[in-house]
Amino acid sequence: MIPMKIHFNDLTAEQFLEKYWQKQPLLIKGAFKDFQDPIEADELAGLAMEEFIQSRIVNRTKNNWQVKHGPFVDYSEFGEANWTLLVQAVNNWFAEVDALIEPFKFVPSWRIDDVMVSFSTPGGGVGPHLDQYDVFIIQGEGKRRWRVGNPDPSLETLLPHEDLKQVSEFEAVIDEVTEPGDLLYIPPNHPHDGIAIDNSLNYSIGFQAPNAQELYSAFADHQLDNQLFENRFDDKNRKATNSPEELSMEDIQLLTNEMKESLNDESLMKHFMGKYLTTVHHPLNLLVPMEPLSFKQIYGFLEDGNSINAVLGLKAVVINTNNYKALFANGEEFLLEDDTKALAHLLARKQPLTLEQLKSSLDCLKNKQLLTNVINKGLWSFE
Ligand code: SIN
Ligand code: CO
Repeated sequence: MIPMKIHFNDLTAEQFLEKYWQKQPLLIKGAFKDFQDPIEADELAGLAMEEFIQSRIVNRTKNNWQVKHGPFVDYSEFGEANWTLLVQAVNNWFAEVDALIEPFKFVPSWRIDDVMVSFSTPGGGVGPHLDQYDVFIIQGEGKRRWRVGNPDPSLETLLPHEDLKQVSEFEAVIDEVTEPGDLLYIPPNHPHDGIAIDNSLNYSIGFQAPNAQELYSAFADHQLDNQLFENRFDDKNRKATNSPEELSMEDIQLLTNEMKESLNDESLMKHFMGKYLTTVHHPLNLLVPMEPLSFKQIYGFLEDGNSINAVLGLKAVVINTNNYKALFANGEEFLLEDDTKALAHLLARKQPLTLEQLKSSLDCLKNKQLLTNVINKGLWSFE
């Protein structure tokens, strides 16, 4: 597949971030020249027949909205118009869909969540709504009318179906028909509505931005799992009180400090964030070898011309600070040293790696071990 590049027209990625990212919506006509759909509607429909895939169909008849969840067995009941099939994390299963993420890597990859693909028949859409996350929507096959507005606290929340949250009519600042290769950027909480004009495929590159509730909850779980919340309140310097009924500010401060101790622990935070942010939200097709491979076998595969690829949808990051270096992939930590850093960066970029690219790293025993280790865990493989 030819690597895609976004034609931001007269904007650089830097200017896009400054002016639009998290601030205002933008439609870029012809962002991808000669855009080829990486999946067909039939293949998407096939994927939504699988048990392990999260999918739904939203169907509108006049003002009556219906939502059905997959797996689907048969689509004939939905007819030819007014419905849309939405399938989550299609990039975990189709390499060509995963490749759609590549052009957006001017944003760190931990921030990118997944690629949701929708197939809509004429009139199909999920109705006007808000999302909490940034999204880039690529128009594939077909045409769709997109309306996007600015955040507006006066919008009402509507629930036309228990599984469908919409908002009341909004004033559009973008109202255009998208054609193959167009790219729409929608910041969080901007009302939007896409109605298909003809059979239409859309690719939504979704971003993750955990809120404080999710972070605190995951952090608490991490600390409990590892028995790391063991420090206990101490008040060695207590003075006698005349108001024993009072909970003093000093005591509140002491208790708060106890909590802050873990939040201020930088090394703990690096470890937790690496783990948390690389844990995927949709199942991965991990490719654990039947028998653990030796480095010699791995080298043999490379010599035969095979390349090493990250499992589709894998989240991987490198943390590279003075006193702590680690590769994280799917929540697993691989500690690094100076001589394994370069290989870790190559792996975490998730591009196919050939013997040519790896050769200089593979003189070092620690790199051989790192590569063998990630392959035997099924995180990177030859497929
Ligand atoms: C889509 O229908 O392809 C995207 C739905 C959305 O706006 O979130
Ligand atoms: Co949306």
